[in-house]
Amino acid sequence: MKVSDLRGILTYVPRFREKIFVVAVDGEVAASANFSNILLDLAVLRSLSVKIILVHGAALQIERLAADRGVTLTSTDGIGITDEPTLKVGLDAATTLMNDIMQGLTSVDLRATYANIIIAHPWGIIGGVDQQHTGRVERVDREALTLFLNAGIIPVIPPIGFDGEGRTFRVNSDTIALEVAEAMQAMKIIYLSARDGVLIGGTLLQQLSISEADEIVKKKRSLVDRNTLSKVEAGARACRNGIPRVHIINGNADEALLAEVFSTEGVGTMIYGNDYQQIRRVFKKDIRAVLNLIKQSVEHAELVKRTRADILAQLDDYWVLEIDRQLVACVAVHLYPEAQKAELACLYVSKHHEGQGYGRKLMAFAEQLVAQRGARALFALSTQAFNYFVAKGGYAEVTPDELPPERRKKYDASGRNSKVLQKTVIPTAVEAART
Ligand SMILES: CC(C)(COP(=O)(O)OP(=O)(O)OC[C@H]1O[C@@H](n2cnc3c(N)ncnc32)[C@H](O)[C@@H]1OP(=O)(O)O)[C@@H](O)C(=O)NCCC(=O)NCCS
Repeated sequence: MKVSDLRGILTYVPRFREKIFVVAVDGEVAASANFSNILLDLAVLRSLSVKIILVHGAALQIERLAADRGVTLTSTDGIGITDEPTLKVGLDAATTLMNDIMQGLTSVDLRATYANIIIAHPWGIIGGVDQQHTGRVERVDREALTLFLNAGIIPVIPPIGFDGEGRTFRVNSDTIALEVAEAMQAMKIIYLSARDGVLIGGTLLQQLSISEADEIVKKKRSLVDRNTLSKVEAGARACRNGIPRVHIINGNADEALLAEVFSTEGVGTMIYGNDYQQIRRVFKKDIRAVLNLIKQSVEHAELVKRTRADILAQLDDYWVLEIDRQLVACVAVHLYPEAQKAELACLYVSKHHEGQGYGRKLMAFAEQLVAQRGARALFALSTQAFNYFVAKGGYAEVTPDELPPERRKKYDASGRNSKVLQKTVIPTAVEAART
């Protein structure tokens, strides 16, 4: 591991401390060889004072037990009808699995408890069909969960619920994770399934906004499997109700859990509330981070050296692109109103985030900004990325004579001999009238 990776990880630690993560494990993952690694990952999260609630499914175990007993199931995942024999198999399979999970958690020195905290009601009669012993979450016992978490104990919740009269119901574990996360105002739900997140046509969708997730649920039902669909549906609802992030990752991939939690890009699919990626102004408190971000590029003479005072003097011109509140790219936009020109400067994308369109995103942002402010041309000076501006930004090389007079003087004085690239901008109507 590189020191820079460790620094990256450490930036998350204060943000996650004492926060609640609901980790929902499919039965298939709990039965896999990788499950012992997941338990170790949970131990790492606990050591960083993250509060963990573990929810588990049991579909695979139910299928296996039913096959052993020769029982025909009406549902394996708690969606649809649960008849009496299916409930019996479900209870037995979930109880055995709970025991295995307890053993596993104890083996990595984690304190855990079986948490009977789901108060359920019957799904009832849907479209004229009695869903029998399938339940929905009526209430989550927050007080009990809070007590466990405050005592440093991981509550483990099976896909089973009880009503006030002691009747038992089979409840879908994805929904339990959602309800628990909402009740406890968790920071994340992490769904661990045996699939690589949300794949459509073989392509992994790394990030989904709430509306994109809704779209998948509404229009693309046929494109994702039932297991993934249930997580996307729960994830969209969770984000809409204030859970900032829902991750769907492959629980069978080594280190997937930590990689998802401790990297800005993650490894599976993340459903996010609305503030995931943003371009925002630089504030005084950010200057140091910006200088750190561009340091290497300055050393390589790609960017001109800037001091804290330089940035401070033109603070309003600087913008950063943030992912998960980490600065990953920046750009400056300087206006030369007398020449109706503007300069795009200090464009930089961190090495870890190159090639993902962030440079283009900032170029487009700069264009939009100067168009709104009435400029008619945007220029950029570059020593090593001029082809980038031409090929990806639609700029053309011009002579330094095109620079506004003041800028031309600085250009000559710098001795950098950068190429001058320029692009025509069409001022947007309202702002053009101002110029
Ligand atoms: C140039 C830079 C901003 C590109 O950022 P990015 O987010 O990686 O770029 P995008 O994802 O939008 O575009 C990637 C594409 O540009 C190409 N590209 C990247 N840098 C390039 C360069 N210096 N010259 C030519 N093409 C380049 C990539 O090969 C890729 O091509 P593809 O889409 O055909 O595969 C980034 O590499 C950087 O910060 N460079 C150092 C600082 C610098 O020179 N800034 C410009 C001076 S203001």
